[in-house]
Amino acid sequence: MMNKRITIDYVAYASADEMEPRDRELVAAALEARQGSYSPYSKFLVGAALRLADGTVLRGANQENIAYPSGLCAERTVMFYAGANYPGIPFDTLAVAGGNGDEVCEMPAAPCGACRQVMAEYQKLYKKPLKIILIGTQAIYKFSRVEDILPLIFDSLKVE
Ligand code: THU
Repeated sequence: MMNKRITIDYVAYASADEMEPRDRELVAAALEARQGSYSPYSKFLVGAALRLADGTVLRGANQENIAYPSGLCAERTVMFYAGANYPGIPFDTLAVAGGNGDEVCEMPAAPCGACRQVMAEYQKLYKKPLKIILIGTQAIYKFSRVEDILPLIFDSLKVE
């Protein structure tokens, strides 16, 4: 038996002003993307902005449905849009901002497990680390790869 530990590194910013310009733009895009949220049931508006490797910035927002499970998170909305409309172009950075109504969360809202699994799939597909930025009004976190928010990723159907 062995006790093991998984550690993660991430950068915490006090505000977007501390970030490099490209990331600052992505943060602004994720915040703006919240306007596209359709969330009459939770009233929790989430915006996501995805920068592709060629510099293209795409936006998504959570879309809810009266049959609750039929809705989709902001992150998957933009990732699936990118997969469908920009096939073959790797994902570079995904920024996410959530909050009730007009308010953005003070501390960064973290993506759900299903969205993390989808991030892992595209990161593996494109063989390029997908950076993730989680936005709050009091702090912004940046992770350099999906493993840092989803350790022990399920990524193989083979039994080793
Ligand atoms: N939501 C997202 O869009 N992204 C997340 O990472 C977590 C949750 C959405 C789903 C639902 O529309 C609302 O937030 C409340 O859970």
